[in-house]
Amino acid sequence: MEFSLPYHGKPWRVETRKLLFFIGIITCAAFSVQIFLTPYENVFRALFLVNNAPAGDSSLDISMMGIFTPFYDSSMATPSKNCTETIDLAKKTPQKSIKTMLSEMIPSSNHMKRTWMKMPPNRITSISAMSRLLLKNLAPSHSMRPKRLSEQDREILAVKSQIENAPVIQNDKDLYAPIYRNLSTFRRSYELMEETLKVYIYKEGEKPFFHDPILEGVYASEGWFMKQMEENKKFVVQDPAKAHLFYLPFSSESIRYSSLYDRKTRSKANFIKLLSDYLDTIKAKYPFWNRTGGTDHFFTACHDWAPIMTRPFMNGCIRAFCNSDVNDDFVLGKDVPLAETLVLSKSDLLKDIGGKPPSERQTLAFFAGNIHGYLRPILLKFWENKDPDMQIYGKMNSTVTAKMNYIQRMKTSKYCISAKGYEVASPRVVEAIFFECVPVIISDNYVPPFFEVLDWESFAVFVAEKDIPNLKEILLSIPEEKYIEMHQRVKKVQQHFLWHNEPVKYDIFHMTLHSIWYNRVFQA
Ligand SMILES: *[C@@H]1O[C@H](CO)[C@@H](O)[C@H](O)[C@H]1NC(C)=O
Ligand SMILES: *[C@@H]1O[C@H](CO)[C@@H](O)[C@H](O)[C@H]1NC(C)=O
Ligand SMILES: *[C@@H]1O[C@H](CO)[C@@H](O)[C@H](O)[C@H]1NC(C)=O
Ligand SMILES: *[C@@H]1O[C@H](CO)[C@@H](O)[C@H](O)[C@H]1NC(C)=O
Repeated sequence: MEFSLPYHGKPWRVETRKLLFFIGIITCAAFSVQIFLTPYENVFRALFLVNNAPAGDSSLDISMMGIFTPFYDSSMATPSKNCTETIDLAKKTPQKSIKTMLSEMIPSSNHMKRTWMKMPPNRITSISAMSRLLLKNLAPSHSMRPKRLSEQDREILAVKSQIENAPVIQNDKDLYAPIYRNLSTFRRSYELMEETLKVYIYKEGEKPFFHDPILEGVYASEGWFMKQMEENKKFVVQDPAKAHLFYLPFSSESIRYSSLYDRKTRSKANFIKLLSDYLDTIKAKYPFWNRTGGTDHFFTACHDWAPIMTRPFMNGCIRAFCNSDVNDDFVLGKDVPLAETLVLSKSDLLKDIGGKPPSERQTLAFFAGNIHGYLRPILLKFWENKDPDMQIYGKMNSTVTAKMNYIQRMKTSKYCISAKGYEVASPRVVEAIFFECVPVIISDNYVPPFFEVLDWESFAVFVAEKDIPNLKEILLSIPEEKYIEMHQRVKKVQQHFLWHNEPVKYDIFHMTLHSIWYNRVFQA
């Protein structure tokens, strides 16, 4: 893929010359963002920090499905090779910061004054910068080998070397090479997981907070993972001494919606006490956490507040969060982005799957969703009822007809927008893939699922939040052949995002476990 204005291919493979150029652009961008932000920041803070309410909550989003987010990052994708050109482009299409856009909107948007909102991030890591960070964090390091390796550690090190020396394959009957960072290493790593991995599941903890999966709703991926892991015969061992990984099976959703939450004070102290007491029990009873500081332990947690519930006492382990925000404390190469999937019916997981071929997708872009957080009001301000190509809506009503209409639109639009709500994750990314619509991700700092192995830019568009005013131009600038190619890749990647009542090879259960396994291997 050409490195051109609206869309860029595989920047993490660019040669050094381009890397240097990126650094230049980042410097320029950082400088201009500074210029834009400073005068408005105080105004913004004054207006938005009136009530000091705690972190947001995407639970209200259940009534509305999906979030599509092609990720376009103009600062990285700009073809300009120097600062001068960047500034020229900025003059052509006003490059206001999100904070500036918000501060200009405040008087007309009353709901924003009422709702607590997390601030737009000050630091933005583009998707290509995330890839570089990931490769750096996964880079082989020979310095920190502990003196006494357990048998499991030795197995893991042997696996790591086999993955690094994977036989090079060009294709595979089940895996479509262009959507992976490296098909050879992914396939080898997956095979070795099947051959090797042993997981021990701690039995401690009482229902409903532990061992009691919730299988429907917007946070269902933590529930399905828990259910399928606890029922698993292949990977689970009863003898913890044999395990490469230790699973802490709690439900962030059950904890969040329990009486542990004090609505008056909005304090999350009870969540933290519950989980830190649980971990203390496990630490005292077994030698495993202390042996490694938790680096071979993991959990999956989908609620927005899961990072707060588990911080900092569980930071040492592999944390699989839906709320995978690299500007928060999500560590690329250690932590795992968990796919957020909206499950409407646990007995019919593949209901309505699929969509129209490219020729029957008449709408350029579609979005509908509740107005959560700071970004969606901006999306609506620029695009609601503005242009027939841009079908951008706020909350759609919750009748069955409206839901069908929503699904039909996803099946018949070229691009499905996944704009962040209160936090970075949205079920719309997976929903788009489910309905074979090319995802357009607008959520700065969001680390998409299976980031370790998938080449996300080959099948999704990433648009920087500040580029919302240019959204249509960006989408139109993607050539038709490129669109058709991305659409085909979305269909190929779909298998990795599907829950099945009984897990199947390469499905979302196995892919989630694989991400955890992969990070365990490369942190060894
Ligand atoms: C930098 O930008 C200026 C103005 O657009 C242009 O004339 C010059 O060729 C550019 N330099 C490089 C190295 O691209
Ligand atoms: C994929 O990884 C293998 C093993 O490390 C390496 O030999 C190969 O060159 C890589 N392929 C690509 C396309 O980067
Ligand atoms: C692990 O360390 C904690 C202190 O961090 C201690 O309370 C606990 O007893 C230790 N566990 C074992 C099995 O020694
Ligand atoms: C939902 O949509 C129907 C049909 O368009 C409409 O008649 C109804 O008023 C809507 N309900 C709400 C609550 O907006």
